[in-house]
Amino acid sequence: MEQKFKSANILVIDDDLGVRESLKIILRDKYYVSTTSNIDEALNTLDSMRPEMIFLDIKMPRANGLDFLKHMRSANSTIPIIMITAYPSIETTIAALRNGAFDYIVKPFHPSEILNVAEKALHHNIELWERNKLVDNLRSAVKQNFFATTEALLHAIDAKDSYTAGHSKRVSQLLAFVAKELGMNESKIEILRYGAYLHDIGKIGVVDAVLAKPSYLTEEEFLLMKRHSEIGYKIIEPIDFLKECLPIVRHHHEWYNGAGYPDRLRGDEIPSEASILSIVDAYDALTTDRHYHKKYSHQKACEIIKQGINTQFVPTFAEKVLAIIDHYREIHPRDEQGKEF
Ligand SMILES: [Fe+2]
Repeated sequence: MEQKFKSANILVIDDDLGVRESLKIILRDKYYVSTTSNIDEALNTLDSMRPEMIFLDIKMPRANGLDFLKHMRSANSTIPIIMITAYPSIETTIAALRNGAFDYIVKPFHPSEILNVAEKALHHNIELWERNKLVDNLRSAVKQNFFATTEALLHAIDAKDSYTAGHSKRVSQLLAFVAKELGMNESKIEILRYGAYLHDIGKIGVVDAVLAKPSYLTEEEFLLMKRHSEIGYKIIEPIDFLKECLPIVRHHHEWYNGAGYPDRLRGDEIPSEASILSIVDAYDALTTDRHYHKKYSHQKACEIIKQGINTQFVPTFAEKVLAIIDHYREIHPRDEQGKEF
């Protein structure tokens, strides 16, 4: 068991040469020990040293141990820090512990005290690392399971209406490309990718006869179809890690002039990610064979979308998104046998 900790790196920060040397002697049989006499040098060498534990003197000239603790805390460091103090006061001890110190020892110290606290701190760090890893693994397993289930749901809809799953995948890919070209950051792109993938998930709650009707829907049927954005919202709502996808799922059929659904939002009230998705969604719908129309060419689809600017589509995004789709097509050419008038 002890072998496990042999290679751990320990950093000692103390302006007193005597303390640095005695800690080195006590710890060196079990650990790699580096020492430094001041905070500035310690901060400069942290990246290269990668200590797994730090012994830190509280009182030092210039920057003191508490400053170092605060710095490490603001950097979200998980390295356990043991404070060393000659004159412990309640105030200093509380300040040290509040600022994230793992423990403290009082000078003069006994070698067994140092070895015990070092072992305890390193154990704690390993446990913390294992716990974090476990949480990460669980989180990604939940995500993976969720997306596998979602994909199965989309395929289930696909079996009734051989359009939704392929459509969702294409829209997701194209939207991620558009978001990147618009300069969005990676985490935003990820949200949009998932949101687009799930935007029509609510169609699982639309009856087959409406979903797969091979002709235009009656007004009554259209009302049933329109419920899919609210149903999708209710499916996604309880899932915490997808909460940022909710605006896309709920509002991707809102219109700029307020004539959309489900909330009849207008103009700036519509979340921008939903506005952008609605353009990409419409483009894919127009350039794909549907029950009620043959696919249109890229040119014609863009024309139709442009005609919808200021009524259905938000003017600030439409031209930009269409230009990006144009660029996407150059990189990913598709069959161009679309219907022309
Ligand atoms: Fe939809």
